[in-house]
Amino acid sequence: MYRTHTCGALRIENRGEVVTLAGWVQKARKLGGMTFIDLRDRYGITQLVVEADAPAELVATATSLGREYVIQAIGEVVERQAKNAKMPTGDIEIKVSAITVLNKSVTPPFTIEDESDGGDDLRMKYRYLDLRRGPLRRALTLRHRVAHEVRNYLDAQGFMEIETPYLIKSTPEGARDFVVPSRMNPGQFYALPQSPQTFKQLLMVAGYDRYFQIVKCFRDEDLRADRQPEFTQIDCEMSFVEQEDVLATFEGMMRTLFKNVLDVEIPSPLPRMSWYDAMDRYGSDKPDVRFGMTIHEVTSVVKGHGFGVLDGAAYAGAIVVPGGADYSRKQIDELTEWVKRPQVGAKGLIYIKVNGDRTYKSSIDKFYDAEALTRIAAASEAGLGDLILILSGDNRRKVQTMLGVLRLELGGRLGLRDPKVFAPLWIVDFPLLEWDDETQRFYAMHHPFTAPKPEHLDWFYSDRKEDLERVCANAYDFVLNGNELGGGSIRIHDADMQKRMFEVLGIGPEEAEYKFGFIINAFKFGAPPHGGLAFGFDRVCALFGGSDSIRDYIAFPKNNQGRDVMIDSPSGIDQAQLDELQIALTVKPEA
Ligand code: AMO
Repeated sequence: MYRTHTCGALRIENRGEVVTLAGWVQKARKLGGMTFIDLRDRYGITQLVVEADAPAELVATATSLGREYVIQAIGEVVERQAKNAKMPTGDIEIKVSAITVLNKSVTPPFTIEDESDGGDDLRMKYRYLDLRRGPLRRALTLRHRVAHEVRNYLDAQGFMEIETPYLIKSTPEGARDFVVPSRMNPGQFYALPQSPQTFKQLLMVAGYDRYFQIVKCFRDEDLRADRQPEFTQIDCEMSFVEQEDVLATFEGMMRTLFKNVLDVEIPSPLPRMSWYDAMDRYGSDKPDVRFGMTIHEVTSVVKGHGFGVLDGAAYAGAIVVPGGADYSRKQIDELTEWVKRPQVGAKGLIYIKVNGDRTYKSSIDKFYDAEALTRIAAASEAGLGDLILILSGDNRRKVQTMLGVLRLELGGRLGLRDPKVFAPLWIVDFPLLEWDDETQRFYAMHHPFTAPKPEHLDWFYSDRKEDLERVCANAYDFVLNGNELGGGSIRIHDADMQKRMFEVLGIGPEEAEYKFGFIINAFKFGAPPHGGLAFGFDRVCALFGGSDSIRDYIAFPKNNQGRDVMIDSPSGIDQAQLDELQIALTVKPEA
């Protein structure tokens, strides 16, 4: 037997027991003839002590131990002189009588402790060493807990976990596909699923009326802190349901996760906000509602004062920084430069300080007298001592989005975005379609299987662009602290309506048949009314752990260039493999 206990198990109650532990040497240090060893495994750290008067051979072994050696130690549990309240095992130590070195280690490239001296790249290259560290161990443990709770909850609700294939055909989520060449079908490719969307709908046709899967999805898109090229969804679908049924079921799931994993109660029922309100008030379809500073439209009150920028604007909106009237010139200049960065894209920033003595100082004093500024302040709901920031432009949604980005930045700077505060909500009533000026066509806002609201069917079948723009869907997103954690919709289950949807999206019958013929066909055989959603599992875990970055919650993630630097992938393949696949490269892969 290698061990009687793990390195996280022993407490003062075990005093006097002779135990055997096994693990990694995190650190060994000599102190007045004694050797102290921090022995680590995935359960914790236990302190071993080899006394100065221990047999010479044991002292020699203890002295020879390097970081990350794998050892087995036998000894008695004794009470510690200097207790460590920060460690669960901090009341005891093991008075060692024997040590066996099970394996040596070369010196690790960085310190494997909670605080590491290793840079990002180095830690990614040696991910298996990084995973020994407490923060990552805790992150993966949380991930396991969440998965377990999800399965428990959905199983209790009658959901069946069913696997769907990874080698499929292009799916409709709108990102680029990763493709896999087929040796047996030269010149043809599988696509890796961006989601199991079509398969879960086919499972509904097949009668499995409550399906879920914790499943890998693949999307070839630009990476950010909350995006990985392969990520995991909690993917779900239900039959014979309306939007209310889906929202109730998954509100229940999230409530259970919050309660059982974090011991946090979330409101019941969860707040809901229409997509239109979210855009108008927060400039985002994933609003962070932990703090106010909402957007106020000021288009009409700013007009007619001879200031060309605002007179000519189709939309002007304001946000108010509470207590911001004392911002210095330098601070305001910095904010102005900040909104002009390409990532935000504003042309300039107008400010109005509402001073404590009811006077104003603004960047538009030349055009607006105190009375006009008072009206703007009233429309913005600014009080004495506040700072009003205004952006304007010819596209309402674009300006709102910029204001939304500025709002988040200011909220962050003002310390209003505490990761320990959770403000979940549903965003509902999404538009079904999104017009793209560049390509002059509609795109599905969620995906092409999302159904229009029944009360908007007249508009859906109309040929007028204005009508189609007004069609809403029974689509919904679960939003937490400014992040989209999940989304879904009630689906089209009628072959004719699906045909109309493809027509609206400019997908001709041939293209529809080629891409989605299998599902159009399946719908002819009695598709039940159905709907569902998918949560981003990595995002749920990261936010529960208090982080915006999903990388730490994935055992082996890719870096920002989509590379796994540990296994050095992607990489070139042998000429023989290429020949077998009958693929000729037009580029030489970089060495
Ligand atoms: P959607 O595309 O909104 O919907 O994806 C669902 C959720 O998956 C997460 N997500 C990601 N997480 C990490 N990295 C990525 N690259 C990434 N992309 C998406 C997000 C998102 O909310 N089939 C539909 C769902 C449905 O209609 O049932 C779908 O995939 O948290």
